[in-house]
Amino acid sequence: MKVAIGSDHGGLQIKEEIKALMDELGIEYEDVGCECTDSVDYPDYALPVCEKVVSNEVDRGILICGTGIGMSIAANKVKGIRCALAHDTFSAKATREHNDTNVLAMGERIVGPGLARDIAKVWLETEFEGGRHARRVDKVMAIENV
Ligand code: RB5
Repeated sequence: MKVAIGSDHGGLQIKEEIKALMDELGIEYEDVGCECTDSVDYPDYALPVCEKVVSNEVDRGILICGTGIGMSIAANKVKGIRCALAHDTFSAKATREHNDTNVLAMGERIVGPGLARDIAKVWLETEFEGGRHARRVDKVMAIENV
């Protein structure tokens, strides 16, 4: 699996934590930034991560900002993206099993590094269940063409 990861200034520390996790798990990743604590705009990092996902350059994306909300809103504007904002491990697992989410968003002002790590780990390791959930995901994706 290959992952694209990005954050704004508000998600920098969690981004480093998740990169360390992926190093441990042997998951290849590409960091699109940001690299410094100067104030930046989260859509500038959400878009490149999502473009890499929809072009199949990577399998999944992870986005972190202060709340995770801006990143998740921006990501879900990109055709082909199903982004979940998850701040607990139950949701992270369920959104892979039921929604086949291809992008995970988290907020550094909401979760600490330990919980963010657990959320990312379960999200990265959980497979989509398919079956009835595939029908529902297909219906969600069809909304893009309405
Ligand atoms: C930046 O101040 C903050 O607005 C951003 O990190 C994020 O929380 C937006 O949703």
